[in-house]
Amino acid sequence: MCGIIGYIGDKPAAPILLQGLRRLEYRGYDSAGMAIQHGNSMTRVRALGKIENLATRLKTKELPGTVGIAHTRWATHGGVTEKNAHPHTGFDKKIVIVHNGIIENYREIKEKLGNGHTYESETDSEILAHLIEEHFYNIHNSDPADALRLAVEQALAHVRGTYGIVVMHKDIPNCLIAARMGSPLVIGIGKDEHYIASDATPLLIHTKKVIYLEDGEIAQITKDKIHTFTLQDDEVEKSVEEIEWDDEQAQKLGFDHFLMKEIHDQPTVIEDAIRGRYNLEDGTAHLGGLNMTIKEMQSIRRVIFIACGTASYAGMVGKYAFERLAGIPTEVDVASEFRYRDPVLDEHTLVFAISQSGETADTLAALREAKRKGAFVRGVVNVIGSTIARETDGGTYIHAGPEISVASTKVYTNMVAILTLYALQFGRLKRITPATGKRLLTAMLEIPGKINTVLAQKEYINDIAKKYSSYQHMFFLGRGINFPVALEGALKCKELSYIHCEAYPGGELKHGPFALLGDGVPVCAIMTKNQLYDKMRSNIEEVKARGSRILLIATEGDEQAKELADDIIYVPPTMELLEPIINTIPLQLFSYYVSLDLKRDIDRPRNLAKSVTVE
Ligand code: AGP
Repeated sequence: MCGIIGYIGDKPAAPILLQGLRRLEYRGYDSAGMAIQHGNSMTRVRALGKIENLATRLKTKELPGTVGIAHTRWATHGGVTEKNAHPHTGFDKKIVIVHNGIIENYREIKEKLGNGHTYESETDSEILAHLIEEHFYNIHNSDPADALRLAVEQALAHVRGTYGIVVMHKDIPNCLIAARMGSPLVIGIGKDEHYIASDATPLLIHTKKVIYLEDGEIAQITKDKIHTFTLQDDEVEKSVEEIEWDDEQAQKLGFDHFLMKEIHDQPTVIEDAIRGRYNLEDGTAHLGGLNMTIKEMQSIRRVIFIACGTASYAGMVGKYAFERLAGIPTEVDVASEFRYRDPVLDEHTLVFAISQSGETADTLAALREAKRKGAFVRGVVNVIGSTIARETDGGTYIHAGPEISVASTKVYTNMVAILTLYALQFGRLKRITPATGKRLLTAMLEIPGKINTVLAQKEYINDIAKKYSSYQHMFFLGRGINFPVALEGALKCKELSYIHCEAYPGGELKHGPFALLGDGVPVCAIMTKNQLYDKMRSNIEEVKARGSRILLIATEGDEQAKELADDIIYVPPTMELLEPIINTIPLQLFSYYVSLDLKRDIDRPRNLAKSVTVE
């Protein structure tokens, strides 16, 4: 989701806007920019990748202006390029806008504007800037600021789609115009200064007094006045709200911990991960960053996922997807082992380096080894512009937004979604029919709603978790594609609660670990309805016979499960390949609440770092 921040007052705008953009990083982005007005001049600075790249560019500029707008872009229309970064200008470079949303009828508008307009970008937003400019020069109003507001109203009357926009004009000092339809905008009230942003997060550094624009409203903002109207130019009275959160809470959007916020981000960020990367009608996926020709893709005879920790468990799920959909032998290597096992690779091997931070030393070293040995090397990375993203020869950004909590949650589920799309992209080259692909994609589009179904049980899961926080040891069991889920659940629980947790394939316990079972060692087992349900059920009956307390993750409607479970968490059914996304959610919540009950440092567990940049 793009992010917007604007400032109008008496302080230099650039540092305020830069700080605001940093507060908006959590929304996910691939480029950023700002425009500052000073007297009758306007300076625009844009940069790809991290906010730091924009900050570096800004250091080279003199920017005394006290009015400005800024934007973090998450590409929808047009590639990730500097020319596509916001702010965008009209034809004469005087009107400048930042936009969050999608102009659905931008092609029709472009045609109506005709050939007199030339564009520097591929974006729908730039076309909106030209449309506003077109109207502005046809309005004869004594007050230029009023004329700009009317031009925005008239332009938006032609727009179908969603927008949160902020508009500035080079020759109209002390004026920001903001309008909302579908993409939120919040005005921050300061003393002889005002702010405008996509949400409260960047405002709370400065003020807790805000005005929320509603859909179909427009505001004309000076440093000491705010006039609000409908898009039909009828004045609207708006009340000033007081936000309760402090700045850090705002970044957590009201949750007590980043971890819980990020668990709740999952329905939204999963949509961000898949948006624009599939074609439902054709039942295909297209992850543009793969940078491989069809011929090269067809030459691949082996896939290897290299990663650490949670990312490696996402890779294990990806293994099932690639072998089942694409029929390509797939391995998962813990990166710290891969680099020293002298792997046999060649030009028919495709290696994916999977990493949230994109800075994990072991994964970076492993990908360098894979490149040395001539494999195709691609990245699946969350942090824009990170080292792994830069050193691979292409790949895909995970688009989960910044993940602050050390324990990875939303990035893991996004990794699984993206690896499944990759498997489908390769599978449709070989043996997957359009109908099968469409069925998978349809099931994937239902995932966000199904995650919300599990999230709605959080208080119930909290009550269950309290029964387990006193144990010293715990097993997590899963079979087939749910074994990586058990591994991920065990890792979440151990790194958050410090309880010793182990994960095992359901059929393995009898080969030794049974010796540890008993009433002091509970077992969490994933027993959802799939091809291994009966096998898993037998394993759990064996476990129950040895006296361990049993927590089951079961499919909604499975009444039989109650015979085996001391506690049971039901999850909605989904295609087996997508179960690892749904089935992980209750384990994330369980781990959170166990560690909460134990009063652990939830977002910063002892001994751990968010990015392990050492071997
Ligand atoms: C997961 O909860 C841990 N924080 C850890 O296992 C992490 O997944 C691992 O260190 C890999 O990090 P990366 O994805 O940034 O490479």
